[in-house]
Amino acid sequence: MVDFQLTDCIETQKRLLALTYMLPGNFTIGSARKGHLTMVSRVIPVDTFDLVIFGGTGDLARRKILPSLFRRYCAGQVPDGSAIIGVARGEMDDMSYRQMVAEAVREYGGGRGCEDGTLDHFLERVAYQTVDALGDRGWPELAKRLTAAHIRNFYFSVGPSLFGALAKRLRKYGMTTPDCRVVVEKPFGRDLATARALNQTLAEHFEERQIYRIDHYLGKETVQNLMAIRFGNVLFEPLWNSQYVDHIQITVAESVGIGGRGEYYDDAGAMRDMVQNHLMQLVCLIAMEPPARFEPDAVRDEKLKVIRALGPVAHHHISRGQYGPGEDGTPDYRTAAGNPRSTTESYVALKAEVQNWRWAGTPFYLRTGKRLKARSSVINVVFKNLQHSIFGEEAGSHTNILSIRLQPNEGITLRVTIKEPGPGGMRLIDVPLDMTFAEALGAEAEDAPDAYERLIMDVIRGNQTLFMRGDEVEAAWAWTDPIIAAWEARGDVPKPYDSGSAGPGDAEQILARDRREWIGFTP
Ligand code: BG6
Repeated sequence: MVDFQLTDCIETQKRLLALTYMLPGNFTIGSARKGHLTMVSRVIPVDTFDLVIFGGTGDLARRKILPSLFRRYCAGQVPDGSAIIGVARGEMDDMSYRQMVAEAVREYGGGRGCEDGTLDHFLERVAYQTVDALGDRGWPELAKRLTAAHIRNFYFSVGPSLFGALAKRLRKYGMTTPDCRVVVEKPFGRDLATARALNQTLAEHFEERQIYRIDHYLGKETVQNLMAIRFGNVLFEPLWNSQYVDHIQITVAESVGIGGRGEYYDDAGAMRDMVQNHLMQLVCLIAMEPPARFEPDAVRDEKLKVIRALGPVAHHHISRGQYGPGEDGTPDYRTAAGNPRSTTESYVALKAEVQNWRWAGTPFYLRTGKRLKARSSVINVVFKNLQHSIFGEEAGSHTNILSIRLQPNEGITLRVTIKEPGPGGMRLIDVPLDMTFAEALGAEAEDAPDAYERLIMDVIRGNQTLFMRGDEVEAAWAWTDPIIAAWEARGDVPKPYDSGSAGPGDAEQILARDRREWIGFTP
């Protein structure tokens, strides 16, 4: 282990801090050997900004946006003079809004690691403006709250039907600048036609370089790590193709149900809610060619090529499910959705094919669902068996598997084959080379910024790498639409599955037909 060193480098540019730590760390191989690790963490300064949150009293603002901003403030990344302006239709003054923000920060953990008194300082930067999105009330007052020299960011944390109205009024009241940014949330449409219409609406008021479409999975530390693992190591990339990879499994399992989001979810289902965006992004990062540079359009061009290479999915390569009641008394899907006849899926598994030179013949099996036995997102890259074993048949067949755990227990495990210790011939066993990031990287890994923290600061820095481009979203819908249309045409009814299970039984069949099986998921 390296000796503990801490090097603090504090540059003060107003309140901007740049901290550099050298932290102690270790990684384990199995659990036997310790190694060395040096980590550098930096808080990158941003310019003074104004951030206007439309939907400033809504669920997303309270759960994610405001607590994330507070944490960035605590980290020293919110420069003095910056303003955070919550906007909504309801009447409220600055003081009441600040109180709401303070409650949100306390409730949703925004204050982790922050000192006493910091919240009060943060709240001084927070204000509220009542605005009528469809009328003229409040807009001139909002315009007066903005400072000419600041980077302007408009966060549309509202339904997509309001995007056009907001954009029009921002322009009418002189708030848009050539450098301003607009942030939009998913769902970005519910099919290709609606996504195109939204893109057109935004394009009437903003250039593509100003539009930040959030998929919060791209802000997750471990999701970005996929690129680091692939393109930062020489080890994996030569094997990262259909010659060596037998198949890939992507599981995003949730133990929670649809909660209070029944109306939205019942209209969307797992395909629209998770596969079209989050799982699609994971497929892209696993399958894409190395971009020439880690730059927004270079990365997004490569992701787009993957989406466009996805083949159509045959009916028998899909499993749809809907969860039943939980043993602990939690309601079944239909009750939670308030729709006793609902045919919306809360689970989907499918076999996808990336039809290009690198991946032809290597299936990507995807599955995601709610009320499953564990919350667990993991990608398993299953390598091909040896062409020839010098150890004979009795040594059995062994498979190398690279498992990338996205959440929880973030880390990677490589299953390798070794000799079973002891006399009695050459017996082979598979053992894990395991690295759990929290163990290896210590406090730094545990305190990694939440996806929203990273993404919001990227907006302010003007870095679009982790945001979806318009053509990417459209291509994802173009692949998803025929799958959903086929269900609708057939009147497909999802199979029931038990809450707390691994999902419907026919998801097993998708792999069984290919003589494969799902790798179990655990938290
Ligand atoms: C959201 C979906 O985008 O992602 C939710 O709308 C889902 O249904 C959530 O629960 C999962 O996100 P995470 O970060 O908890 O994996």
